[in-house]
Amino acid sequence: MPRKRRFLTLGIETSCDETACAVLENDANLLSSVVASSLDLHKQFGGVVPEIASRHCLEYIRPVYDQALKEAGVLTEDIDLIGVTYGPGLVGSLLVGLTFAKALSYTLDIPFVGVNHLEGHLYANFIRNTVGAVPYVGLIVSGGHTSIVYSKNNAFTLIGETRDDAVGEAFDKVAKMLNLGYPGGPIIEKKARFGDPRRIKFTCATLPGSLDFSFSGIKTAVLYYIRKLKNVECEVPDICAAFQDSVVRVIVDKIITAARERKVTTIVVGGGVSANQYLRDRLTEVAAEEGITVLFPMINEAIDNGAMIARCAYSMYQRGKRSLYTLSADPSLSF
Ligand code: KG4
Ligand code: ZN
Repeated sequence: MPRKRRFLTLGIETSCDETACAVLENDANLLSSVVASSLDLHKQFGGVVPEIASRHCLEYIRPVYDQALKEAGVLTEDIDLIGVTYGPGLVGSLLVGLTFAKALSYTLDIPFVGVNHLEGHLYANFIRNTVGAVPYVGLIVSGGHTSIVYSKNNAFTLIGETRDDAVGEAFDKVAKMLNLGYPGGPIIEKKARFGDPRRIKFTCATLPGSLDFSFSGIKTAVLYYIRKLKNVECEVPDICAAFQDSVVRVIVDKIITAARERKVTTIVVGGGVSANQYLRDRLTEVAAEEGITVLFPMINEAIDNGAMIARCAYSMYQRGKRSLYTLSADPSLSF
């Protein structure tokens, strides 16, 4: 019997400080995923420096692409489709991936599909799953976004978002106040494991009646609390635990409310902050009481990667989507 022809999608992600390429076979067989991060170059500045990020993307796109093909055991001419992030993100970084994708698409005479990075984060959950088009509410929690969307038949409706800082940004800023380094999320999570979340009370805005978020208030509350301390060091675990607990409670409450309002029984989570185990545990626990299933991406696929872009592009392509060479990078792309 002749072997069924496999369909290979190359995913390219360069929206911020990562340069990532992945090769996906058909809809759910990941052959390779390579990520080069410029994180170490930004650490001394306490945040991502756009110019450094884009220069790093430019330097690494070719070697990362070569490595992804090598690890997948495929050749350039085996690729059938290219998926590439075209927004939101830093314009310089986005342009590197998008230009590379267009050039490759033109040279190989194969289609390319521009992918919304935020949708990509949700599709990280489907890299190893073939899921039906069930309606769900999606939660994107990253360094640049905190959004709730309703998804039905692969279309997305934005139903809640942050009015100020993104949740990952709040983690990063609190970590900076405590001199814990960058990125703050993983460090705060680690410190919080040794702290008491109830000893200090930081209130995170709940914005009753809305699915929107606000994290700037709790960030300021942490700052004022730290300023009053003589010895910050010994309070770090409790501060981290209280901050994380307060933020996670609001996120869990909002996404469960969204699921109830939209009468869905599936929640799909994505974005860097979805790597947080405290969030995973609390959301899974509360959702179970409501009879709701929660999907989280694998930890290494929660942060920016090419596999989620390949998976999203494959799905879009199956639905007839193709991008034109006139597609521009869109730094403020939303849903
Ligand atoms: O999705 P991502 O890699 O990049 C953006 O699209 O923004 O997310 C990066 C963000 C950073 O703010 C980082 O501090 C946060 O995700 N993050 C975490 C954890 N791991 C990464 N936040 C909380 N807990 C974590 N374990
Ligand atoms: Zn991201």
